[in-house]
Amino acid sequence: MSNAEDHLMVADGLGVSFGSGRNRFAAVKGVSLFLGQGEAIGIVGESGSGKSTLARVLVGLQKPDTGSVTFKGRSVFDGSQPYPGDLRRQVQMVFQDPYTSLNPRLSALGTVAEAWRVHHRCSMADAREEAFRVLESMGVARHDALKKPRQLSGGQRQRVSVARSLSAEPSVLVADEPTSAIDQSAQAQLLNLFNRLLGEGLSIILISHDLAVIRYIARRTYVMREGEFVEGGETEQVFSNPRHEYTRALIASIPGRKRHGAG
Ligand SMILES: Nc1ncnc2c1ncn2[C@@H]1O[C@H](COP(=O)(O)OP(=O)(O)OP(=O)(O)O)[C@@H](O)[C@H]1O
Ligand SMILES: [Mg+2]
Repeated sequence: MSNAEDHLMVADGLGVSFGSGRNRFAAVKGVSLFLGQGEAIGIVGESGSGKSTLARVLVGLQKPDTGSVTFKGRSVFDGSQPYPGDLRRQVQMVFQDPYTSLNPRLSALGTVAEAWRVHHRCSMADAREEAFRVLESMGVARHDALKKPRQLSGGQRQRVSVARSLSAEPSVLVADEPTSAIDQSAQAQLLNLFNRLLGEGLSIILISHDLAVIRYIARRTYVMREGEFVEGGETEQVFSNPRHEYTRALIASIPGRKRHGAG
């Protein structure tokens, strides 16, 4: 159906298992997807369905047992290391748990500035200015930017994590529940930023349990259950006319869904 040359990223038949022997467990089973430039796709599914594992494969942190990932026409797992050279910078991930992925010794500013300096090979002074600007655009004030991860709120940490990933000026952002800990206004700010970046050509793979967030950002959505995609298509189509029983149940389980409902 989809052709690797036509899309920025293509995943085909991905499978990931953990453990061995009797304890072997398939976390991702035969998952395929594609992503165009400037496009956002959503991945939804219940806890434990394999979303984060899939995300780790897409960014090259987890080698799949089966299947392939192609980025800009190049097979990601064929060489000695995934995403060699400049390709690494181009595919960035925002981790679901920003606390464990942030360096506890660096301030928010230090984290973002360091990423900026590495990716842009500029002076630390310039990088810090840039970091202040990026953090401020995401609603992290200057005095909060000087705090260490343990002094930040969960939502602030999430935004620092997003800012760090964006410092690389990636082509693809894989964001794993980036809005789960932030309030409505910070969420709106982040989603507006995502929309603006989409307009500038960034591609986004957004994992979220919040169907309203998915609906706002993603043109296409895949529904994941027990390691498999059970449904995928245009977001509006999936939400207003779900074909799979599981998708219907997922939509029905969203509190306040009528407010965000079809129409
Ligand atoms: N390194 C690992 N070793 C063993 N099992 C793992 C590992 N990573 C994930 N799993 C298992 O794989 C399954 C999928 O986990 P994953 O984190 O991908 O789910 P998820 O859809 O992201 O869930 P959530 O919505 O709670 O974040 C789970 O059963 C999990 O326990
Ligand atoms: Mg997860």
